[in-house]
Amino acid sequence: MADTPLYDAYRAFLADPATPFTVPGHKRNPALVDELLAIDLPLYGAVESLDGSTGILPRAERRAGELWGADWCGFSVQGSSHGNMAIALTLAKPGDKVVVARTLHKSLFFGLVLAGLDPVWVRPDIDARTGLTAGMPPERIAAALDAHPEARAVMLIEPSYVGGVSDVAAIAEIAHARGVPLTVDAAWGAHLGFHPALPPHALQAGADILVTSVHKHITGFTQSSMVLAQRERIDIDRLEAAFEGLHTTSPSGGIMASIDRARALLEERGTALLDVAIAESERARERFRAVEGLGVVGADIAERNPALLMHDPTKIVLSLVGTGANGIAVADVLEERGITLEFADRDTFCPVITLGDTAETIDRLADEVIRAIEEHRGDPRDLVPLTAWTVDPVTAMTPRDAFFADHVRVPAAEAIGRIAAETVVPYPPGIPALAPGEVVQGPVVEALQAEAAAGTSIRYCGDPNLETILVVAE
Ligand SMILES: Cc1ncc(COP(=O)(O)O)c(C=O)c1O
Repeated sequence: MADTPLYDAYRAFLADPATPFTVPGHKRNPALVDELLAIDLPLYGAVESLDGSTGILPRAERRAGELWGADWCGFSVQGSSHGNMAIALTLAKPGDKVVVARTLHKSLFFGLVLAGLDPVWVRPDIDARTGLTAGMPPERIAAALDAHPEARAVMLIEPSYVGGVSDVAAIAEIAHARGVPLTVDAAWGAHLGFHPALPPHALQAGADILVTSVHKHITGFTQSSMVLAQRERIDIDRLEAAFEGLHTTSPSGGIMASIDRARALLEERGTALLDVAIAESERARERFRAVEGLGVVGADIAERNPALLMHDPTKIVLSLVGTGANGIAVADVLEERGITLEFADRDTFCPVITLGDTAETIDRLADEVIRAIEEHRGDPRDLVPLTAWTVDPVTAMTPRDAFFADHVRVPAAEAIGRIAAETVVPYPPGIPALAPGEVVQGPVVEALQAEAAAGTSIRYCGDPNLETILVVAE
């Protein structure tokens, strides 16, 4: 058993609790709490001493840093959203340019607002057959850096939400040759680098910072996350200050301990557990391929898209257009039958498969998805790629200037050609299709309205039907 200092301290405190005169206020008083709160311990004042002087957390973070080969590691209870914002505050000064993949998560976008950074957007390729993102061509990053030699960093999102992995090593070389660091939002890639069939993780590929959600592909509590960084091109003191500055002063001991435990599990049994996830995902893909009209993304997507190093073999992505079934209706039926999908819109399904799955869970997924699609068959329709993946933004102001500018809500038709002051995010995957500082473009609005009408949840904007849009006042 790998050593787990934080997890051990958590368990030891639960087994022999003090009489707490600290927060949390429920005091784990058996007369007041049930199993929900009985395991809730604060990090400080229970798992660690109140002043942190026992140093258990830094020990656990060091162990994770060693496993990922990083000089610095920070555990977070605020998801990769926290890490993204801390990274943005670390890289440059307000007004500086950074080259950023336009498939960024909204948290990184708000990191740019916080830090006052000026993004040079680069868009990954789109796969013509499926409409999915299909990798960031290294030459596109080189061109962006050549056009903006003053840019201070390159920021990628890898793997993509739908499992595409770009050639991060080639992009790291390009960034480093021009003297800038590469940061990678690997929220969906905590398992990368831990199985021979998977690509290396971003640090192995040469990136300078990696943020990953421990709760997504490995076994941490919901919200658990980590930032891992190398010292050579990153000011670690500033990263640490930003990370601490944005982190709650009351982290949950359970969430933090779960990161320690997830790291140990990955270290000890990760390859064996991933064997199952990879083999069973492939078996399910085979079953899906036998369903008439159902599009199944697999290794072939990387064969026809040169910017893709590979497709994450644990990732199941299905295109329903050829079956004529409406994905939202199918997903509703699946939910009634106890199967919830991470991503389901009208055309695409992306159930998350992790090392927590077994042959039985993946078989049940395949059984129920196939049954529900057969019940909902219709006329095949044309593929419409998700707006968030195809938007080619026209930037008129920095995100920060637009966010803080005076603004006004106007009917969508009047918003066309004006500068957006709000974030419009089809969810999932949480990628802004329109963001503060960008010119509101007619085709983007029309596509978003169509997505909203088709049942996609449009979030973080004042009017989710997109009848009105918040724009910068003239
Ligand atoms: C690419 C990307 N980055 C960051 C996040 C935020 O992660 P978390 O939910 O752990 O804050 C997400 C969430 O879906 C994401 O897709």
